[in-house]
Amino acid sequence: MKAVHLCELGSSDHFKIVDVPVPEPAENEVLIRVEEAGVIFADIMVVRGDYVMSPTLPFIPGREVSGTVEKVGAQVSDLEPGMRVVATLLVGGYAEYAVAPSTNVTLLSERLSFSQGLIYHINLPVAYLAYHAFGKIQPEETILLHAAAGGIGSLITQVAKRRGNNTVIALSSSEEKADHCRSNGADHCINYRTTDYVEEVLRLTGGKGVDVCLNSVGGSTLESDPKAIRPLGRWVLYGYAAGKGLIDPYAADTLLKSLTVNLFSIYTTLGTEIFERAVAFRDDWIAHEALDTVTKRFPLEEVSAAHEWMEDQHSFGKIVLEVGSGG
Ligand SMILES: NC(=O)c1ccc[n+]([C@@H]2O[C@H](COP(=O)([O-])OP(=O)(O)OC[C@H]3O[C@@H](n4cnc5c(N)ncnc54)[C@H](OP(=O)(O)O)[C@@H]3O)[C@@H](O)[C@H]2O)c1
Repeated sequence: MKAVHLCELGSSDHFKIVDVPVPEPAENEVLIRVEEAGVIFADIMVVRGDYVMSPTLPFIPGREVSGTVEKVGAQVSDLEPGMRVVATLLVGGYAEYAVAPSTNVTLLSERLSFSQGLIYHINLPVAYLAYHAFGKIQPEETILLHAAAGGIGSLITQVAKRRGNNTVIALSSSEEKADHCRSNGADHCINYRTTDYVEEVLRLTGGKGVDVCLNSVGGSTLESDPKAIRPLGRWVLYGYAAGKGLIDPYAADTLLKSLTVNLFSIYTTLGTEIFERAVAFRDDWIAHEALDTVTKRFPLEEVSAAHEWMEDQHSFGKIVLEVGSGG
């Protein structure tokens, strides 16, 4: 089968198209004929060598796929060949066939194309965790949202506008992304490359600051965010696209404002009631809400370009790699 190998860490130039045997599913696994593979920020971090898990090189990256069940392991009873599914993996998604633990495989709703399945499968549970479980966001509250044009940020905006009637202040790095945020429902869109976002947030909130800030970028924003949050406000941290940075809990804007700081990883919620609620939220959303389409597609062979697109901060919405022909 055709697959992508990552041969060296550090750069998206280190991908190579290879021909390797189709993997065999173990007894609790499912072999999927891949139609589409999602590109998510965790894939960028894997290439950077900055992810919690780094497999032995070379390996096939790719953490989410949609496609058709080809074969199931002896212990798998709830899935069978021919079913349309979406799945998360640790590695192996950038290939014509991928194996996933059966517990990570979900039937694709009839409302969703293969690529749409990737928009929601993991990103919407993460959006739920940020908004509901850890942000504890209440109706009408004002939210400052980093990476608002991104895969998860776009969904958080929709949840906030459609379910909470919140005021969303969306941060992004270009006018094109700000346009995307605006058409996605954000109330105020700030290009942080051209505007001091703290000053603008304080202006928009009459000097008070937002009720809650959702931050997936880290870096220098860990120093500036507390200035834009109101006293007794909340600060949710769930990623570090711009680098890890440092939090000073005793910095005046954090301590004297008595901010609640909440960090989360989806992995620690797996198997808990919180995750079950996140999945139920996703499934209800898919059944009832107006659904998005993918914003950017690349053929599997152009995996380096797809990664550069995200790494260089051009991406908004959802990016996929086209692998099969089923769309
Ligand atoms: N905690 C969890 O359980 C969990 C689970 C899944 C994902 N995440 C995190 O959630 C975030 C969003 O994931 P996603 O897949 O939807 O990605 P994404 O938001 O589509 O892409 C990442 C965004 O981060 C922003 N960014 C800021 N500084 C950057 C830099 N130096 N390099 C690259 N990007 C930078 C960019 O937006 P601007 O250019 O507009 O700033 C970029 O579009 C990621 O940080 C990811 O690691 C966390």
